[in-house]
Amino acid sequence: MAGGVITPATSGKDYPGNLTRSVIITCVIAATGGLIFGYDLGISGGVISMNSFLKKFFPAIYEKQQSTKPSDNQYCTFNDQILTLFTSSLYLAALFSSLCASTITRVMGRRASMFFGGLLFAAGSLFNGFASKVWMLIVGRLLLGFGIGCANQSVPIYLSEVAPCRYRGALNQLFQLTITIGILVANLLNYFFAKVGGWGWRLSLGGAIVPAFIIMLGSCVLPETPNSLIERGHIDQAKNKLIKLRGVSNVDEEFNDLIAASEASKLVEHPWSNITKRKYRPQLTMAICIPMFQQLTGMNMIVFYAPVLFQTIGFKTEASLMSSLITGIVNSLATLVSIFTVDKVGRRTLYLEGSIQLFICQIVVAIAIGAKFGFGGNPGELPKLYAAFVVVVICIFVAGFAWSWGPLSWLVPSEIFPLEIRSAAQSITVSVNMIFTFVIAQVFTLLLCKLRFFMFLLFAVFIVIMAIFMYYLLPETKGIPIEEMVVVWKSHPVWKSYFDQSSASASLEMGNKDKDTC
Ligand code: BGC
Repeated sequence: MAGGVITPATSGKDYPGNLTRSVIITCVIAATGGLIFGYDLGISGGVISMNSFLKKFFPAIYEKQQSTKPSDNQYCTFNDQILTLFTSSLYLAALFSSLCASTITRVMGRRASMFFGGLLFAAGSLFNGFASKVWMLIVGRLLLGFGIGCANQSVPIYLSEVAPCRYRGALNQLFQLTITIGILVANLLNYFFAKVGGWGWRLSLGGAIVPAFIIMLGSCVLPETPNSLIERGHIDQAKNKLIKLRGVSNVDEEFNDLIAASEASKLVEHPWSNITKRKYRPQLTMAICIPMFQQLTGMNMIVFYAPVLFQTIGFKTEASLMSSLITGIVNSLATLVSIFTVDKVGRRTLYLEGSIQLFICQIVVAIAIGAKFGFGGNPGELPKLYAAFVVVVICIFVAGFAWSWGPLSWLVPSEIFPLEIRSAAQSITVSVNMIFTFVIAQVFTLLLCKLRFFMFLLFAVFIVIMAIFMYYLLPETKGIPIEEMVVVWKSHPVWKSYFDQSSASASLEMGNKDKDTC
């Protein structure tokens, strides 16, 4: 009774339209919103492993690191809650701003949220680049977080609304691709700026202003989505936009469905209280569980702390920055695999395959480190071959995440919510993502200190739980038009009981008549 028994062929519609140049350009520009998120995810880990940065802002940790004797517990070198707050404070701010961004996105449009996001982000990067005290660093991180909350709330919705349904998976995943490019650029800059001397960290942190400008400029030239124009009463403009985006004049069927979805959503006065209604329970469950599980894969212990992690298990500073660079490249390349396969093999297959891959890698890394050093022992320095093996396994882990939980956990939530709760539900997704990103960033060094390599086994257990959850509860959404999505829930073996059955069978009949699905 897995969730996959429902196929798009029995539940979707097709709308005329092509993958036009206009859609591609629009989506590429919008997706640059992921750059600011990625840049931030990638930059802090390298910065906190730079001696000049530690010496200036966290001298106690610097001293501790310098005076570590072979007999000291190396797993605990970086265990400092203020240091981790530098990384994680951003995600707390993003959590709050994504909630406010819901209203901006609904009332002022998707582009307005993107623009505000870029503006706040630019301010944050200036604070950080010129920081002379810890409080300036934290204020900077908070501003960056506010920016990210706005961008992550609006960009995935924007992409899913603009994309023709047949290509929605691929186009939405451009967001994840730019996240990974942002992480990679950050890793690359850290690698070079670490050599600059005492102020390289300023260049790393201040460099965030570049992606900030890209998204601000991008949001000024992008067209608003037809869904948002209709939602805000600009009906004629919406139809023209849809014709241009789809490249055909016969858009009536899709346009009428957008109008119907908008009418239905106008009956809902309070999206926030509405979302708790029984009929939205399936979507709400996914809005919360998918981002939570994405973080519980443990991917961010690599994104944030790869240099720290590699140093802890015996790599020298240069080798650990280089290894993070390698994982960054794998992350971007593997995202392409998802872009080219998601609309063919579907979301469920990628999620399940990715989970198995992640599980195996966590177990192998735990065994490799545990077998070498034992539970009580210090990591010391890893022999070269051994170190290379660990890096390879971590790369396989990163690749598995990059074609499954990474992109899909932004794609699936953005496509499953009906218009009336879409903006609010997306805010919940972003907030949950940020809460768990915060938790992982905050507890990672503590976990590493207390659990040592057993930490990897803990994440392996989470992965088993989330794979079972997805197998039974996630319906396949490949190829279903976004405003028709309710049909997949109404015919899902577990979730159908949340809907009125007469309307469920009516929807199925409607879908069955329409064999030419996308
Ligand atoms: C996640 C981030 C993660 C990144 C890695 C994103 O989808 O939300 O937390 O660091 O992927 O590529």
